[in-house]
Amino acid sequence: MNILILGSGGREHSLAWAVKQNPKTDRLIVAPGNAGVALLAECADIDILSGATVVTFCEENAIDFVVIGPEAPLAAGVADATRAAGILTFGPSAAAAKLEASKSFTKEICDACAAPTAAYARFTEAAPARAYVTAQGAPIVVKADGLAAGKGVIVAMTTDEALAAIDDMFGGEFGAAGAEVVIEEFMSGEEASFFILTDGTNALPIGTAQDHKRVGDGDTGPNTGGMGAYSPAPVLTDAIAQQAMDEIVLPTIREMARRGTPYQGVLYAGLMIEQGRARLVEYNARFGDPECQVLMMRLGAQALDLLLATAEGRLDQAQVHWADDYALTVVMASKGYPGAYAKGSVIGGLDGLPETSSQMVFHAGTTAKDGQITASGGRVLNVTTRGATLAEAQQKAYAMVDAIDWPEGFCRRDIGWRAL
Ligand code: AMP
Ligand code: GLY
Repeated sequence: MNILILGSGGREHSLAWAVKQNPKTDRLIVAPGNAGVALLAECADIDILSGATVVTFCEENAIDFVVIGPEAPLAAGVADATRAAGILTFGPSAAAAKLEASKSFTKEICDACAAPTAAYARFTEAAPARAYVTAQGAPIVVKADGLAAGKGVIVAMTTDEALAAIDDMFGGEFGAAGAEVVIEEFMSGEEASFFILTDGTNALPIGTAQDHKRVGDGDTGPNTGGMGAYSPAPVLTDAIAQQAMDEIVLPTIREMARRGTPYQGVLYAGLMIEQGRARLVEYNARFGDPECQVLMMRLGAQALDLLLATAEGRLDQAQVHWADDYALTVVMASKGYPGAYAKGSVIGGLDGLPETSSQMVFHAGTTAKDGQITASGGRVLNVTTRGATLAEAQQKAYAMVDAIDWPEGFCRRDIGWRAL
């Protein structure tokens, strides 16, 4: 079949890599893709936020199946447009993607189905929000309601920090995303990510992961999109995963269906685990990046069968064939990230690295220029490996990192430390 994947990051490179290995795949196109993706699939530079453009592209290229990677096209209704045109699609409707696009919507769903999560209040004006924070005290968490590229959450350790966040959000720092603000109880514990495929009715867990959001070793410094990840996450034991399914995920799926907006795609539940129980931090309507890279490394070619079963409503018949192994990914980023960074530096040493079913360099922000690979983003490469133990996967990953010649890049040296 002919398959189109939307997106341009390491997540989409890993999806393309897994899908390409499945014999069902004939033609594989990634839009817009990147220099790494171009080594294994066709890339097409189209506006992936326009449902009409994507539908026309699918019709012109006889696309049988569309997989939507990032949240922006989901929130823009691209899945609605492709489904309306009769094209098999992996990814939720705009109405269902509100589980990521609106934090107050997610809280409303949690209330409706009694899913455990942080206590909260929501505000559309600064004065009552400030009064609430003053009364509650710190630590406390202030969130812009809408999509803010991962920057709209302030975990405030002092009341002053929380008040400043409220002023920034209502002052327009996040545009329309900050017109409503959710203020939450601070939850302590250990975070882990839980990935569940659902066709709207049936649900199939496909793995757990932990990522490292802070830029510096030892989880220090500013927040990023994620500097590395590994799977599985030992903190998410089978018992806790079952509790999260029973109390959070399945009630959410049922509530979405009951409202006439069934959720179809991957549901990424960010969980806070404390004293053997999980509470919901947030949902995302897509695979995590870089968590997807470790999930795809572990799933391989069967990923396509699982994505198809999701889109075709057949998840009750699907199962995951697990290898008893671990995967780990190290993000190499441009020096300066998550602040300002230079673009255009040349990355050497990639050609000499073997790419196998247990080690791959997924590209995130790269561009091919005069026959060379250059850095064109903040997060640039995802060095991803698999091993019989997490320690083995980590060793292999850093051996690959050390073989890459890119003085303008950096990475954390301790990915996986919590689990090792
Ligand atoms: P979110 O975008 O909702 O995932 O928030 C980003 C990060 O902020 C999360 O991954 C957590 O580390 C942290 N966070 C969000 N909400 C809370 C909360 N209620 N308590 C503690 N930490 C939180
Ligand atoms: N790595 C976190 C995310 O994809 O949201």
